[in-house]
Amino acid sequence: MLFLSFGVLTSLVSSVAAFNAAGGSLRARRALHEDHDKRLFKFSSVDSYRGEDFLNDTLWSFSTLADPTGGQVEYVSGADAQGKGLAYVQSDGKAVLRVDSWTNLPLGARRNSVRISSRKAFNHSLVVADFASVPSSCSVGAGFWANGPDWPHNGGVLIVEGANLKSSNQFTFHAGANQTCNVPKQAPLIGGDRIFTAEVLNTNCTGETGCSFYDPSGKFFGRSLNDAGGGVFALLRNRSGFKIWFFERQSIPIDISSGDPDPYSWPPPHALLSADDCNIDSSFSPQTIILDTAICGDQASSDYPNSGCNGSCTQQVTDGQNYVGAQWVINYIDVYN
Ligand SMILES: *[C@@H]1O[C@H](CO)[C@@H](O)[C@H](O)[C@H]1NC(C)=O
Ligand SMILES: *[C@@H]1O[C@H](CO)[C@@H](O)[C@H](O)[C@H]1NC(C)=O
Ligand SMILES: *[C@@H]1O[C@H](CO)[C@@H](O)[C@H](O)[C@H]1NC(C)=O
Ligand SMILES: *[C@@H]1O[C@H](CO)[C@@H](O)[C@H](O)[C@H]1NC(C)=O
Ligand SMILES: *[C@@H]1O[C@H](CO)[C@@H](O)[C@H](O)[C@H]1NC(C)=O
Ligand SMILES: *[C@@H]1O[C@H](CO)[C@@H](O)[C@H](O)[C@H]1NC(C)=O
Repeated sequence: MLFLSFGVLTSLVSSVAAFNAAGGSLRARRALHEDHDKRLFKFSSVDSYRGEDFLNDTLWSFSTLADPTGGQVEYVSGADAQGKGLAYVQSDGKAVLRVDSWTNLPLGARRNSVRISSRKAFNHSLVVADFASVPSSCSVGAGFWANGPDWPHNGGVLIVEGANLKSSNQFTFHAGANQTCNVPKQAPLIGGDRIFTAEVLNTNCTGETGCSFYDPSGKFFGRSLNDAGGGVFALLRNRSGFKIWFFERQSIPIDISSGDPDPYSWPPPHALLSADDCNIDSSFSPQTIILDTAICGDQASSDYPNSGCNGSCTQQVTDGQNYVGAQWVINYIDVYN
């Protein structure tokens, strides 16, 4: 990454006090934004997961392990996923990862699904993921996240997480056992703006629960997201920490659409873990990215009784028709370094 005015900006965002004392720098920053030739920084390379190459074996590994959250799911290999029509690229270039929605099963049997991890791990970077559709079905838990080895010890960031018929997304940061990482219960204000805009559910990032945020609008997940044609999620990691944004389809920044993203020009993120509140580089190793559709795992099962879904989670699994909406439709995932 190429940083201009790096020191000035770092002090500007690193604390409210520094920000208030730095009105001059703020004007300088605004001036830079008005001049598109004077960008604060540009990313130097991109790993692109899109189009007919999306499923290339060099990019992803398909997990065939049992669901670590105890789900009633059978994760299939890459060859099986493609052979059985659970992973494919459509003629319009969108990639699809889906649950088997055509086989009926006896009570208690596991249903076929797909869980993939990027072969590459990313350190400081910007992940931009455009989903046309996310899995939304009773008994299903969907996740798009990043983590290091031996979760949660090398950190993890859930960018998309939801289950059953939910339409509100949850963002979560997990830091390893001996790390002290917390987010504030209320977003501090900078210049009258909240520094993040989602609501905090849990402030302690350490361990398996993690610190989490949800979108009160109920537009970032499930049916409401899918009916609106999906949208773009972005995760930025730099020396200041992590930021996560969601953009509805009609408000995707032009710099994202043009493949030259400029997070400095974006509105405040929805979720944020500041390097002031966490030693990010010791808590989070470089992270692989994962797409998962689980069935009756911890997430969907614990939510099930209050989900508005029929019967029990395990009864739901028997009928293939319940899984027609259980699919990721991915326009692209780009990781800028
Ligand atoms: C997968 O990607 C590699 C490296 O870009 C390329 O050489 C190979 O032909 C691709 N495989 C397929 C099946 O497209
Ligand atoms: C990740 O990037 C940061 C900033 O460039 C660097 O200090 C750190 O050593 C990197 N971590 C690893 C494991 O490469
Ligand atoms: C956490 O600290 C304890 C005590 O020092 C140590 O035994 C343990 O291995 C550490 N765990 C990790 C994941 O570093
Ligand atoms: C955060 O959670 C960890 C793991 O459960 C715990 O050890 C630690 O004391 C908690 N920190 C605070 C500030 O509550
Ligand atoms: C990290 O990126 C954000 C863009 O939202 C920027 O405001 C911040 O200054 C960057 N931090 C560093 C250390 O460059
Ligand atoms: C529950 O079952 C009824 C009757 O079969 C059906 O009409 C309804 O759509 C089901 N509700 C859900 C949430 O699946």
